[in-house]
Amino acid sequence: MATTPSTSKTVLVTGAAGGMCAGINRRLAEAGHTVLCVDLDPAAAKRAADEISAAGGQAASFEVDVADEASVQRLKEAVTSEIGAIDALINAAGILDRKYLMDHDVASFKRALDINLVGPFAMIRTFGPELVQAGSGRIINISSIAGTTGYPYPSYAASKAGLSNLTRSLLLDFWGTGVTVNSICPGVVDTPMVIQEVRDQVARKVPTGQIVDPAEIGALACFLLTNDARNINGADLLIDGGATQLFQLFDRPATAGADA
Ligand SMILES: NC(=O)c1ccc[n+]([C@@H]2O[C@H](COP(=O)([O-])OP(=O)(O)OC[C@H]3O[C@@H](n4cnc5c(N)ncnc54)[C@H](O)[C@@H]3O)[C@@H](O)[C@H]2O)c1
Repeated sequence: MATTPSTSKTVLVTGAAGGMCAGINRRLAEAGHTVLCVDLDPAAAKRAADEISAAGGQAASFEVDVADEASVQRLKEAVTSEIGAIDALINAAGILDRKYLMDHDVASFKRALDINLVGPFAMIRTFGPELVQAGSGRIINISSIAGTTGYPYPSYAASKAGLSNLTRSLLLDFWGTGVTVNSICPGVVDTPMVIQEVRDQVARKVPTGQIVDPAEIGALACFLLTNDARNINGADLLIDGGATQLFQLFDRPATAGADA
């Protein structure tokens, strides 16, 4: 059966200057979508948009601090006056604060939750009504496998678990509107966020043996924008090479793959 071609959408991407969004932005633009590159760092957001334009795509850039409600409101006003309504929202802005329990003070814990969890909530609350107007709006939250299993850094784990459960809970709010709300839960993605120590474990801990390319996250996001994905709703879509599906006391078998 042929896949329904996706119609061109206006997609707002937060954290658009980051490593993962390099792949997301590129795939969206290649699929013919207009990408609104939104980030805390306006110069970097502009570079991301310029890259898309230089490759022949449609893009614009905006500044936001997703953790600041007034900043989200200013973003909404700027996007409405310069572009108009959006069709899809991808919440990818996030931070990984590598602090263990006793290194984390309450303020830094709250800051991580403000960016990773309250930020997407504020963005969805602000842009949700126009997504309903679009009739086939899409919300994609970039969560993490760190939200589905325990993880060493509690603010990251708690915020991503919260984001995945926020996703499910919003099904009620968008019931019957044509808007779908999903999370993508990446494993180890080839971005500057991932330290060498983790990269070194991929061959032993990830059944595919591969680090995820940011463009693969973009490809999944592009599919979620299509009409064929209209019944994928409330999902936590793992894209982790199978890393979280094994009881992790098992390592890669010595007989596997090239070593066999
Ligand atoms: N890299 C991975 O392996 C991985 C795995 C799972 C999930 N994730 C998630 O994917 C998303 C993107 O990660 P990445 O690897 O590209 O990280 P990154 O650090 O390269 O990019 C994050 C972007 O978010 C922006 N940002 C930070 N705080 C913000 C704020 N308050 N308001 C607006 N923008 C803000 C940063 O300026 C940056 O451009 C994050 O939510 C991250 O938690 C990453």
